[in-house]
Amino acid sequence: MCGIIGYIGRPPALPVLVGGLQRLEYRGYDSAGVATLGPGGVFHRKCAGAIASLAEHLNGRIEADRSGSGIGHTRWATHGEPTAVNAHPHFSCDGKVAIVHNGIVENHATLRDALTARGHTFASETDTEVLAHLLEEAYSGGDPLRAVGRALREVHGSYALAILFSDHPDFLVAARRFSPLVVGLHPEGNLVASDIPALLPITRDIRLVDDGQMVALRRERVDAYTFDLEPCRLKTQRVAGGWADTQQQGFPHFMLKEIHEQPDVVRRELMGRWNGDSEELRMAERALRNARRAVIVGCGTAWHAGLYAKYLLESLLGLPADCCLSSELRYAPPPLDERTLVLAISQSGETADTLQALRLARERGAATLAITNTPASSLAREAQGAWINRAGVEVGVAATKTYVAQLSALALMIRRVANRNDLIEPLTRIPDQIQEILRQDEAIRKIAERFLDGYDFMYIARRFNVPTAFEGALKLKEISYLHAEGYAAGEMKHGPLALVDEGLAAVAVAPRDDVYDKILSNVEEIRCRKGAIIAVVTRGDRKLVRRADASIEVEATEDVLSPLLTIIPLQLLAYHMATILGRNVDKPRNLAKSVTVE
Ligand code: G6P
Repeated sequence: MCGIIGYIGRPPALPVLVGGLQRLEYRGYDSAGVATLGPGGVFHRKCAGAIASLAEHLNGRIEADRSGSGIGHTRWATHGEPTAVNAHPHFSCDGKVAIVHNGIVENHATLRDALTARGHTFASETDTEVLAHLLEEAYSGGDPLRAVGRALREVHGSYALAILFSDHPDFLVAARRFSPLVVGLHPEGNLVASDIPALLPITRDIRLVDDGQMVALRRERVDAYTFDLEPCRLKTQRVAGGWADTQQQGFPHFMLKEIHEQPDVVRRELMGRWNGDSEELRMAERALRNARRAVIVGCGTAWHAGLYAKYLLESLLGLPADCCLSSELRYAPPPLDERTLVLAISQSGETADTLQALRLARERGAATLAITNTPASSLAREAQGAWINRAGVEVGVAATKTYVAQLSALALMIRRVANRNDLIEPLTRIPDQIQEILRQDEAIRKIAERFLDGYDFMYIARRFNVPTAFEGALKLKEISYLHAEGYAAGEMKHGPLALVDEGLAAVAVAPRDDVYDKILSNVEEIRCRKGAIIAVVTRGDRKLVRRADASIEVEATEDVLSPLLTIIPLQLLAYHMATILGRNVDKPRNLAKSVTVE
C-alpha cells in the first residue's frame, strides 16, 4: 500500500527522501508528499500523481536543499480521494507535528469527532490526520517519545509511522503496529522506511522494527523502545539480492524484465534443493509428513499458486487440501487443529489478510509454513517455518517471476515428500524450456495486436492448469483493464457458454496431458458458437493448432509441471496487449504491489 520514509543525517534530506520514494513507488502512486526540517524551519510539498510530479513541484529545491531531516510518503488512497490535500504528511493544528502513515486507523471516525469537539480543525478527509492531532494533544511541548506512546494507545488499526517534531530537529520518531517498518543505519545518517529496497542504494545495514516498537532516529544513533518506553533491541537483517534487481537494465518495463528473468529465477529456486538436502526441504518435509490435512492461504497471484499446491498435494501425496482466500479464511475459517498444516503464500510476506490468516491459524493450534520472497517479512518471522523464494526484488505490480518461483518451490517440496524422483530431471529442464518460450515474444506480440479490438477474454483450462487460467486472466485484467475471466473448462456449460459469440476470445491452456481430449471438446463448443481460440499447446500438437485462430507452443514436460511453462506466454500476451494500449504496466491504476491493509 502506501510507502513511508524518514531520514536524519548530514547530507541534505530532500534528495534522500525523493530517491527513497521513487523506490517505494510500487507501494502506491496516486499522490505523494514530503516534509523537511532545516535552517528555515519546516518545509512541505504535496501533490496528486506520481513521484515524478512531486519532483517537478519541488522545482529546483532538491539541489538547493539544506535540511537535516524529513519524512516522505507515497500514497495508495483508502480514505479520501488522491488529492494534494489528502496526501501525506499531515500536520497538527499548530504545525509542529508532521506525520506519514502506512496502514489504517480503524477508529478514526470516533477519534475525529472527539478531537473536533475539543477544537481541532481537520484539513483532509484521511484517517491519518487524526494521528497528527492526537499527537499534538499528547505532546504539547513535552517529551515527543512519551507523546507517541501515549497517543498510540488510543488508536485501533495498523500503522507504520514516521513523525517529525519541529521543536526537535535532532531526531525523528517512527513506530509500528502490523505494518512493515525497517531501519537503515549509515555513518552519515539514519533512515526508516516501509521496505528494504527503499534503503538499498544507501545502506545494507538493516534493522527490523517489530510490532509494538518505536524508534528514535538521531543522526549518529537509533534507539528502540516499547510503547511504554522500555528500551528494547531491533533485530538485524542480512540483505540478500542485488540492487540490480531494482534497475530496469535496458528493458522498457520492469514487468518485461521480470518475465525474462524467469529462467534464472527457477534455476536459483532449484539450486541445492532439486535433489539436495537443504534445511528448507527438511523443514517442509517434516511439516507435510505431520499433517493430516493442509489449508493453503494467499491473495491474488499467491492464491493461484496455492491452488496449484492443492492439486499437487492431493494428486502426488494424497493429502486432503483446501485453498482459501486469506480474506475469507479470516472471517469464515475452516476447522483448524494441530494436525492441520496452514501453508501461507505471499510474495511480500506483508499482505494484511494473509498475515492475519496465519495468526488465526496459530491461535487455533495449526502448524504453519510460509512461502515468501521476503526473508525479513512478518510472515517469514511469524510462521513456524519459512521457505524463502529466490526471485529477487519484484518491482512490477503484477506478479510474474514470484509466481513461477512459488510454483517451483511447491513442486520441489511436494515432489520430495512424494518421493517422485522421476520429476527431478523434468524440473531441471524447466529453465531452458522457459527460455524457449521467451523466444516467441515477437509472435506473441503479434497475437496481442490481432486480438486487441472487439474481444472479451475467457481463459480456460483443466486440472493442474486451472490456476494458470485464473492467473492468465488476472494478468490481463490487472494491466490492460480488458475484461477477462478464468474458468475451469468443465464449467463452460454451466453458464459461461452463454457469453460465447464472435466477440469472445477463449485462451485455451491445453498442453498434451491426460485431460487434453476434454479441453479439445470445450474448444469445439466455443468454435461452433463463433468464439475465437488462442491456444497454448505442446510443441508439435497439430490437432489443436488446426482448430485455433492463433497458437503458442510450449515444450513438453510432465503434466504436474506444465503450469511452470504455460503461464509464461500468458504473461507475455497480457504485457503486449497492455503496452499496445498504452497502459502503465508496472503501475496499473488503482492497484498496489503490497496490500498491507485489509
Ligand atoms: C497485490 C498484488 C498482487 C499480489 C497480491 C498478493 O494485489 O498486486 O500481484 O498477487 O497483492 O500479494 P502477496 O505479496 O501476498 O503475494
